Amino acid sequence: MVHSTGSDATQVKPQAWLQLVWEPTGLYRLAHLAVVALSLLAVVYVVSVTGGTPNPFVHLMYGPILLAAAGSGAGVATAVGLLAGVLMGPYQQASLAAAGGQPDGGWLVRALIYCAVGGGAGLVFERLRRSLRATRELAERLARGYGNTLRTLAAIVAERDEQTGGHCERVAYHAHELGKRLGVEGHDLETLWWAGLLHDLGKVGIPEYILRKPGKLTAEEYREVQRHADLGAQILLSASPEFATIAEGVRAHHERWDGKGYPRGLAGEAIPLFGRILAVADVFEVLTSRRPYREPSSVPEALAELQRNAGSQFDPQVVEALLQLVQEGRVQTEGVPPPLYHEVPVFEVRSMGLESQRAN
Ligand SMILES: [Fe+2]
Repeated sequence: MVHSTGSDATQVKPQAWLQLVWEPTGLYRLAHLAVVALSLLAVVYVVSVTGGTPNPFVHLMYGPILLAAAGSGAGVATAVGLLAGVLMGPYQQASLAAAGGQPDGGWLVRALIYCAVGGGAGLVFERLRRSLRATRELAERLARGYGNTLRTLAAIVAERDEQTGGHCERVAYHAHELGKRLGVEGHDLETLWWAGLLHDLGKVGIPEYILRKPGKLTAEEYREVQRHADLGAQILLSASPEFATIAEGVRAHHERWDGKGYPRGLAGEAIPLFGRILAVADVFEVLTSRRPYREPSSVPEALAELQRNAGSQFDPQVVEALLQLVQEGRVQTEGVPPPLYHEVPVFEVRSMGLESQRAN
């Protein structure tokens, strides 16, 4: 069973300063207009005290005009351009004093240029805004689609997981907790959670009679079971290349620190970190759970077993992180309610280059 507390929505939360410039809403809109007005007056002041319109500081006026274009669109930017033209025209005292007044044609042409720049830039920004909005909506739709794909795969695993009473959810939980203690952060942590939930996805392709066989497996049957690591990764990659990191962890969850694992026989840090974490989370969960053929080990017994195999089967650092987890009383075993991630993570679409964040 995959639990969700529901937030599928992704939303982009721009920083406050950006909201003064780009798509200001509510109070930010008022603040944006105030910044435009203040910067416009500041330019008028600078031009006045530096000799009037004949000097190059007059070009500073493009600042407030473009600011208005970015935040308020073509109409407001044109109006700001007109206002700027007038303020730089007959009322520009320094010009009058220094040059005996500006010829009418001169300031009018400059005002028209300001208006044209403001209006043109406003149109370009509006177009850009529309296209960014469309891209963001597409990214959000894709993120929901990817999340649904992962949930569907997780539901398939959960069907089989019923036999082992929440094994995959507990592996996901412990992998997530271990990852946190090993410096995995943000989206990577959520990816690790998914990798934990889906680590045995490939078992859907292994014949049921082998998986349920009560006795010892033959060498051929064991080779068949070993295929599940690669198979799970292949299913994920065929669903989307976006799942590459999850697939990498799933493929490596039976590798051993000493290189005697499968499917590739990788050793030490050549094993992807997610694989090393999943290996510890998986075995810890299996040891502390009841199986038809044996009673569950206690948490100290399971921890001792993992510590004995640190440096041979397991990454010692990951086992150390498990020790911390046990000392903090954060491990979950069979019999307690299934551990819940605070919510099923939204899968972030990184290839779109947009910083989507979960709505809180
Ligand atoms: Fe496995």
